[in-house]
Amino acid sequence: MGLQNENIAALSFVTADLNYLTPPLDRPRTYTFEPPSGGPRSNIVPEPHSVPIHDLRPISETVSLDREGFALVTQKSSVKDFYDEHEIRDVYYPEAERLIKAATGADRVFVFDHTVRKRVDGAADRDGNLLRQPVARVHVDHTAKSGPQRVRDLLPDEADELLKGRVQIINLWRPIRGPLLDSPLAVCDARTVHPDDLVASDLVYPNRVGETYSVKYYPDHQWFYVPRMTVDEALLLKCFDSKTDGRARFAPHSAFADPTTPSDAPPRESIELRTLVFHPN
Ligand code: OGA
Ligand code: FE
Repeated sequence: MGLQNENIAALSFVTADLNYLTPPLDRPRTYTFEPPSGGPRSNIVPEPHSVPIHDLRPISETVSLDREGFALVTQKSSVKDFYDEHEIRDVYYPEAERLIKAATGADRVFVFDHTVRKRVDGAADRDGNLLRQPVARVHVDHTAKSGPQRVRDLLPDEADELLKGRVQIINLWRPIRGPLLDSPLAVCDARTVHPDDLVASDLVYPNRVGETYSVKYYPDHQWFYVPRMTVDEALLLKCFDSKTDGRARFAPHSAFADPTTPSDAPPRESIELRTLVFHPN
C-alpha cells in the first residue's frame, strides 16, 4: 500500500510511458557487450505503460528510504567538474559518504561505482570515456541475491563479518546541470511493489554476471519524480536491504520522456553513485 487516494490525488503529475517488462518466457538476460554467440543483446521485451508520475516535492519531507525506498535531500556539492573522474573520486565520493552516513545513521559507507550520463550520443568525459545514456526501463540495480554478492566481491576479507549486520545498497543520483527538464528519473514507492513484480534478470559483463530486477507492470505502483530538479538536490535510492522486516528493500526506477519538456531543453546530464551501507551488528 502506498499513499491514500486523497493524498496522492492532491499531487500534480505528468502522464508518461514507462517501459516495464513483458512477462517473460525465459529468464531475462542482457549483455553489456556484443554477445559471443552473435545473438541479440537482450531478450527483454519492453511493455510500455502510460502512468501518472507525481510531484515528489510536496511530500519530500515525509518520504524515507525505509518506507518508500527513496528520499530527496538537499546538498551543495563542491565538485566543479563532474566530467573529471579524479575530482569525482577525490571530492564527490567523500561528500557522498558523509551525506549517506548522515541520512541513514550508518557506521560505514563504501562508494563502489559511479556513472555519468548525458543524453547526447557520443558525448565523452575529460579522459575521452564515452558517457552513458539514461535508462528508460523500469529496474532495480540489485536483487536479494546480488546485493550480498556485491559485498563478497568488493570486500572479500570483511564480507562474512559485514553480512552479519545490516547491509544496504543505496544510490545517490543528481543532475549535473539544472534545472533538469529532459529525461527525469521516476522512482516507485517500494510499498506498492509486490515481490512477484520483480523478475531476477542476468546482466552479463565480459568478466562477471550481475543480477538486477526487471519489473512487471502492476496498476497499484505509485510513481514520483522531482520536477525541474536542481544541482543542489539529490535522490537517494534503495537498491537492496538485508533487513526483511517490512522496510523498503527495492525501489524500482526509470528514466522517462516527460511530455511537458520544452523542445529546446538541454539534454539530461546526471551522475549516480552506488554505495554499500553498513550498520554494525
Ligand atoms: C540508477 C539508474 C538511470 C538513469 O541511478 O540506478 O538507473 O537514467 N539511473 O539515470
Ligand atoms: Fe538503476
